Formats: sequence, C-alpha cells, structure tokens
Amino acid sequence: MSETVLITGVAGFIGSHVAEHCQKLGMKVIGLDDLSGGVIGNVRPGARGLA
Ligand SMILES: NC(=O)c1ccc[n+]([C@@H]2O[C@H](COP(=O)([O-])OP(=O)(O)OC[C@H]3O[C@@H](n4cnc5c(N)ncnc54)[C@H](O)[C@@H]3O)[C@@H](O)[C@H]2O)c1
Repeated sequence: MSETVLITGVAGFIGSHVAEHCQKLGMKVIGLDDLSGGVIGNVRPGARGLA
C-alpha cells in the first residue's frame, strides 16, 4: 500500500517540488493551498487538491 502525504503550499515553489519528489517515490499527494501566493499551474498532475 502506498503512503499518502499532505503537502501545504503545494502551488508554491517549495511545495510543488516536494510534491513532485513524493510522486516520484510513489506516494499519493494531497495538496493544500489557498492560492494567495502560488499558481495553480505549479500543481502536479495527479495531485488531489484542497482549497
Ligand atoms: N527559482 C528559484 O530559485 C526560486 C523561485 C521562487 C522562490 N524561491 C525561493 O523559495 C522560497 C519561497 O518558497 P515557498 O514555497 O516557501 O513560498 P511560495 O510563496 O512559493 O509558496 C507558498 C504557498 O503557500 C500558499 N499559502 C500561503 N498561505 C496559505 C494558507 N494560509 N493556506 C493555504 N495555502 C497558503 C501560497 O498560496 C503559496 O502557493 C523563498 O526563499 C524564495 O526566495 C526560489
């Protein structure tokens, strides 16, 4: 069973890179971001989102 991780600030610089790394490791990613600073285009395909 794969691990599921919650990444805050997933649309930002650090969060989007952490999400990419976790997905490469086979983890399921749930991203939390209010888009106050990041951009939706940074969110990796396949990441589930919470606003
Ligand atoms: N090319 C580069 O080297 C490069 C580019 C950009 C940034 N940086 C560096 O990266 C660092 C910043 O990266 P970061 O990822 O910490 O910041 P960020 O602003 O990129 O990401 C923060 C994310 O958190 C979200 N957020 C903020 N408050 C929130 C809240 N209350 N609830 C939900 N989401 C919320 C924002 O919408 C944003 O997407 C700085 O040190 C900057 O200098 C480097």
